[in-house]
Amino acid sequence: MIRLPGLIDIHVHLREPGEEYKEDFSTGTSAALKGGITTVLAMPNTHPPLLDRESLRAAAELAKKKAYCDYGIYLGGGEHNAAKAADVAEEAAGLKLYLNATYGPLLLEHVSSWMAHFEHWPANRPIVAHAEDKTLAAFLMLSYLYHKPVHVCHVARKHEILLIREAKSKGLPVTCEVTPHHLFLTEADGKRLPPGRERVSPSLGTAEDVEALWDNLDVIDCIASDHAPHTLEEKDSRQPPPGFPGVENTLPLLLEAVQEGRLTREDIVEKMYENPRKLFSIPAQDETWVEVDETHNYEITGSDQFTKAKWTPFEGKKVRGIVRRVVIRSQTVYQDGKITVQPGFGKNIREA
Ligand code: DOR
Ligand code: ZN
Ligand code: ZN
Repeated sequence: MIRLPGLIDIHVHLREPGEEYKEDFSTGTSAALKGGITTVLAMPNTHPPLLDRESLRAAAELAKKKAYCDYGIYLGGGEHNAAKAADVAEEAAGLKLYLNATYGPLLLEHVSSWMAHFEHWPANRPIVAHAEDKTLAAFLMLSYLYHKPVHVCHVARKHEILLIREAKSKGLPVTCEVTPHHLFLTEADGKRLPPGRERVSPSLGTAEDVEALWDNLDVIDCIASDHAPHTLEEKDSRQPPPGFPGVENTLPLLLEAVQEGRLTREDIVEKMYENPRKLFSIPAQDETWVEVDETHNYEITGSDQFTKAKWTPFEGKKVRGIVRRVVIRSQTVYQDGKITVQPGFGKNIREA
């Protein structure tokens, strides 16, 4: 049995409010605990989206009653909310800008509104963005012009990770994350899934893209699941929404990579604990740890998951390493497949 610190997943979609049939704060945070994650940062592309004090507090109230693990909640950048969002920055995990079209109601079409957010948002929290390809280059330019720290979500392409490497080497305050699906699946793997299930944004990369991510691990600050649950019915429909559930499989996939010698346990701790804490000023959880049996072999199975999305793009994949017990603040919160605390046990990182 090995012990890890309570891991932090800085990118999850918990769908509350508005799409509780896909996920809610209880199911999403119980899935996190099963995956050895004791803090999640939830995205604002909900219904309604989280754009101001009222909507952020309404979501935080729901989380306070329902969450099993600790959490933070992002504010979303809208075309007209830059000043209002900045006013409530202290209560938010960070500011999320959707700079490319993806799932949900948030998309910033106008560079003028990107500029407004860069002007208003305080420099003590990163501005995080979904920014692919040319949009990524433009986002990095704004970081340079406004001297504000930026964090790039789910980097998936070779030229993108090389561009970030370049920006870092020139001293830009830029950090980034990658997802397990962009590290472990190629577009060829996606083609083997039933049609619709491979849809994710950014899309899966080529073998060359995947190799470039592994070759540039030193540039990758965080590993985050981008847990994006949709129902199986939706994924198998004519208009499948993009996204994979991921919060409960991330650690087992990474532990398998450790066993294969592609990653070290220290890399996991750095990218899922130390760097997330630093980047998002997340307070320490006292007497908190995860007990993992590294030798246990099993297959990933969608139907066993705690998330409401009872499917996974990793169906049938053999992994070694299972979370046996999770302790938060001296209390056992998860043991051998069962949650052992009441909903509402989790705390908001911004109320600590
Ligand atoms: O695949 C994705 N799903 N990418 C995103 O950017 C959004 C997410 C979601 O909310 O479903
Ligand atoms: Zn995204
Ligand atoms: Zn996302």
